[in-house]
Amino acid sequence: MPTFARGPFFERLEATGGIRMNKLVKIISASAVAGAVLVTGSVMAETEPDAAIEYRKALMATVGGNMKASALIIKGQVEHKDALAAHARGIAAAATLAPAAFKQNTHGMGSEKTTSNENVWKDWDKFSAGLKSLETEATKLADLAASGDMAAAGKQLGEVGKTCKACHDANRDK
Ligand code: HEC
Repeated sequence: MPTFARGPFFERLEATGGIRMNKLVKIISASAVAGAVLVTGSVMAETEPDAAIEYRKALMATVGGNMKASALIIKGQVEHKDALAAHARGIAAAATLAPAAFKQNTHGMGSEKTTSNENVWKDWDKFSAGLKSLETEATKLADLAASGDMAAAGKQLGEVGKTCKACHDANRDK
């Protein structure tokens, strides 16, 4: 946290009510930090490991959600055929965001729970190729879904699923 020069402005405020003063300092400090982040954001090398982990997990959770939703549609358990293409495009979009989300090597860092193992960064080319496959297969699924060929889309959902498994087996701890 930045420290503040405590000039007359603060002293006067302090005299008018200590508790509110603390609150004000907190708000000012928070905005100063936010401002500093905005200013230095472009030159900041690394995100906090915990935030990087949380972010990539949030991204993968959208993949999991869209995959689950797609499976429910394909199995005919829900009547949302028209939504399948959008779910598939959601997966493809997440796949394009994932390289940036995973790039920062957090192995052995942070306290946020993660199942990523060190293979992610040891063999980054392979990992990013896996993400590329996910994007390709999910895009095919979106196209088939849009064409209305649900049988072919069902098969293609299996192909998408294979890319998940291949990557998880190699890059996630159980
Ligand atoms: C190229 C690699 C790769 C591919 C492809 C991939 N994943 Fe993942 N996924 C990971 C890694 C690595 C993690 C662990 C993230 C962490 O905890 O740091 C993960 C985590 C997850 C999580 C847990 C998120 C959380 O909240 O902790 C879900 C759900 C998930 N993936 C679903 C899927 C599904 C479904 C697919 C396929 C449609 C898929 N993933 C494809 C690498 C991949």
